[in-house]
Order: sequence, then C-alpha cells, then structure tokens
Amino acid sequence: MTTTTTMDWDRAYRAGDHHQYWELSAPSPDLVGFLAATPPAPGARALDLGCGTGWDTVALARAGYRATGVDISGEAVGLAAARAAELGLEIELSVGDVRGLDLPDEEFDLLVDRGCFHHLGPEDRDRYATEVARLLSPGGLLYLRGSRQEMFPFKPVDAPALTRHFPADRFSTGPLMPFQLHTDVLKLDANAVVLRRAD
Ligand SMILES: C[S@@+](CC[C@H](N)C(=O)[O-])C[C@H]1O[C@@H](n2cnc3c(N)ncnc32)[C@H](O)[C@@H]1O
Repeated sequence: MTTTTTMDWDRAYRAGDHHQYWELSAPSPDLVGFLAATPPAPGARALDLGCGTGWDTVALARAGYRATGVDISGEAVGLAAARAAELGLEIELSVGDVRGLDLPDEEFDLLVDRGCFHHLGPEDRDRYATEVARLLSPGGLLYLRGSRQEMFPFKPVDAPALTRHFPADRFSTGPLMPFQLHTDVLKLDANAVVLRRAD
C-alpha cells in the first residue's frame, strides 16, 4: 500500500476538493492551543508535513517559529504561497514528499501533521517515521493528528500504529487524545498525539 500519487492530490486541489473534504479555512484550533501553551524559543524552526494550503503553517509563523511547509502537491504549495504573501508572513514552502525530504538533518524543533500521515500505508509510515527522526533536533516534537479509525481512505492514528512506526528507542509517545477534527464542512473522529524524539 502506498500513498496517493502527486497527480491525485494535484487533481483534487484543482477540483477544489479541499474545500469539501479537509480544509478548515483557519488555523486549526487544537494547534493554536498547542502553540499558545508551548511558545517557541527564539530562532526555533517548525515544519508542517503535508501542509496543504498552509493554514497550520500560518499558525506556526504567527506563534514565532521560522515556519516551513512541504506538500507533495504543487497546486497546494501554490495556494499556500499565495496565502502567506496575502498575510505578509515569511514562510518557506516547497514541494516535497514526506517519505524522503530534501531538508537538513536535525533542522526542526517541531513538526506538525494534520491529515497527512493518516493517508500513508505501513511501508510509507516507516519511511515517514525515519524522516521525522532525522529532521527533528534531539528532544524535538511531532504533533500528529489523524483519523481514529480505519475508514477509507484513512489508516488509523492509534496505539498499534504508533507502537509499530515510532519505536521506543527513537521516540517517546504522549497520551493519545481523542478529539473531533473539524473541516469547513465535515467532522472526523480523530486522535492527537505528541511524539518526542529521543536525545
Ligand atoms: C488531508 S490533506 C491535509 C492538508 C493540510 N494539512 C490541512 O490540514 O488542510 C493531506 C495533505 O497531504 C499531502 N500529502 C499526501 N501524501 C504526501 C506525501 N507523501 N508527501 C507530502 N505531502 C503529502 C496532500 O497533498 C494533502 O495536501
């Protein structure tokens, strides 16, 4: 099982599917709360994995992070770049694949993911976790949100998945917190979790 192709995501964004299925036209409230509770140190860097049109990347920049967003869809990155320009925010954006990113080792203090990991199958999840461990500074955090249940097209973000893909020698895992992930149109039963890269 692999992730959906770039072409599928580009087509989805061109068709405006994000408005119907996954976008919330604002930074996600749970991330805003997380950032308010854990303000960054000066110069800290954060990366939004599968950033889509960039609303959560905006939240990272507003919180004071040097913010970067990556997405496999050039269409999404174009929309995110337009949003950052419109809001006057300095955000680095690039097209990239979370299974292998052209970004330096230990570059980021915080990674966030709203709805990317839950599209990945088991092999891709292993590659994703390897990238997360490589990109995070020691002690750095991944704030991960995704579907609570297996439900097409989602694979669950649940305890077995976390144990399997984020092994205890590389990550410590916080509590799995059930919540409802709201989009402009839908609600999804989801889990949120914070994973910490080992020192
Ligand atoms: C459900 S959308 C969520 C987008 C955004 N995080 C949000 O909350 O609106 C999933 C995003 O992951 C991106 N994506 C899927 N597979 C990816 C991959 N292998 N590498 C990078 N981005 C990927 C898609 O293009 C899409 O923008």
